[in-house]
This record gives sequence, structure tokens and C-alpha cells, in this order.
Amino acid sequence: MKKKRIICACAAVTAAVAYLTFENTAIGVTRYRFDSEKAPESGLRICLLSDIHVKEHGGNHGRLIRLTAAQKPDVIAISGDLVDSRDTDTDAAIALAETLCSIAPVYYVTGNHEERLPVEMYLRLLDSLSAAGVHVLDGESALIAKNVFISGIHDSPSFDAKSAAALVRPGAYNIIINHRPQFAPDFSSAGFDLALCGHAHGGQVRIPFIGGLIAPDQMLFPKLSEGVHRYGAGATVISRGIGNSLIPFRINNRPEIVVIDING
Ligand SMILES: [Fe+2]
Repeated sequence: MKKKRIICACAAVTAAVAYLTFENTAIGVTRYRFDSEKAPESGLRICLLSDIHVKEHGGNHGRLIRLTAAQKPDVIAISGDLVDSRDTDTDAAIALAETLCSIAPVYYVTGNHEERLPVEMYLRLLDSLSAAGVHVLDGESALIAKNVFISGIHDSPSFDAKSAAALVRPGAYNIIINHRPQFAPDFSSAGFDLALCGHAHGGQVRIPFIGGLIAPDQMLFPKLSEGVHRYGAGATVISRGIGNSLIPFRINNRPEIVVIDING
């Protein structure tokens, strides 16, 4: 009887470890589609990568790179927390960014983890990313397809709606990359058609029929932790992210690459 109980306990622990390993390492692909007369008829595909926290998925991020390349994106957007302020490996982040640039043009904004870095390290990281070919956006916008602009604002606990609105090009399809999803209503009010965010890590633990458990800034049962949220004429896409930070595990909340097709 005792032997049977030990075998059952071992099997339960093995199953739990296997499940947690899968939940924390098996990157999923989530697809969203948006239609707009302002977008080009040929369409545009964006891969949104968020909150990598330089977490390794396969040697040298091989799995993440292969999965991203397999989506054949026109553009890659990184919505912050490429590095982790507690376990900083800027060289790994730069090497990853350089490889991603060989897949498609990369547009990046900082997250709260980059903003927490010592000033010298922060400036070196941004310079190195730019040298690697990454478009580091802070209060700037860039044309990424016919009549489609992407803007970016570095991470801040507040959102300057007036400065953001100044980035919106009238008549064009306007996208903004910003780390924090809690500003979703403000992105729409500022005039953006689409916002790309992360930060919430999907609420870390996803409870069926309820949603995320906890997220920075929003705390327990965050409303804006993943998926698509519409406010007025605009929509915000929130990635559950790829890596972890303070809470080093996920439950029922696989890391994800978000693939967004915008069709004219
Ligand atoms: Fe993060």
C-alpha cells in the first residue's frame, strides 16, 4: 500500500513538472486579423514579441527565432522588456535583436525593465540595438507600408496623450507600440487604430472563466492582461509575452508570439 502511494506521488510530481515545463517553454502562436480601408490591399503582417526578458527558448533563442521566421512577417514589433533588470544580459538581447532584424524590420520600445537599468547600461543597450538595425522608437513614427505608420513611446508610468496624438498621421492607418496595456482607452482617444502592448504577462496564472490572476499596475484579476480590447474606433492587442520576471512561472498561460494581419 505504501509502495503504491509513493508511486502515485512520484507520478503526480512528474506530471506536474512536465505540465509546468510545457506551460513555460512551449511558445504558442496567436493570430488576430484587422480590416481597414486605410490599410494596403496587399495586407501587412506584424509579429508582436513582448516581454522576452531574455528568456532562452532553445539554444540562443533558436525556437523563438525559427517560430518568428516561420510566420513570414513584414514587420516585427517588440513592445518592451527585452531584457530583465534583475538578470541583465544585454549582449544576449542584442544578439537576438540582430537575428530578428535579418527576418524583417524590427521596431522596438522599452519596457519598465529597460527603464530601470543603470543609465550607462541603458544608453549602451539602445545604441547597440540601433547599431544592430533595430528601429528604436521614442516619440517617433515610421512608415512601414503604404499609408501605415508605426509610432512608439518608451515606457513610462504615465501616458502623455497630447504628445502621442501629435504622432498620429491623419488619413493613415496608425499603430502605436507601448509597453503598458492599461493605457488602452488613451491610445484610442489619441487617434491610433491599433496599439501593441505587453507588460501584464497574461496575468501570470490564467484561471478558466475568470482570466489573469495578477499583473503589474493592475494587481489582482487584471482586466487588460491579454487579447484584443476595443475602445471607440481603436483596438489594443495585448501579448501575454514570452518570458517571466519576478514570478518565474506561468500556469495555463503559455508564452506567445502574436501574429497580426491587417488587411485593406
Ligand atoms: Fe515584462
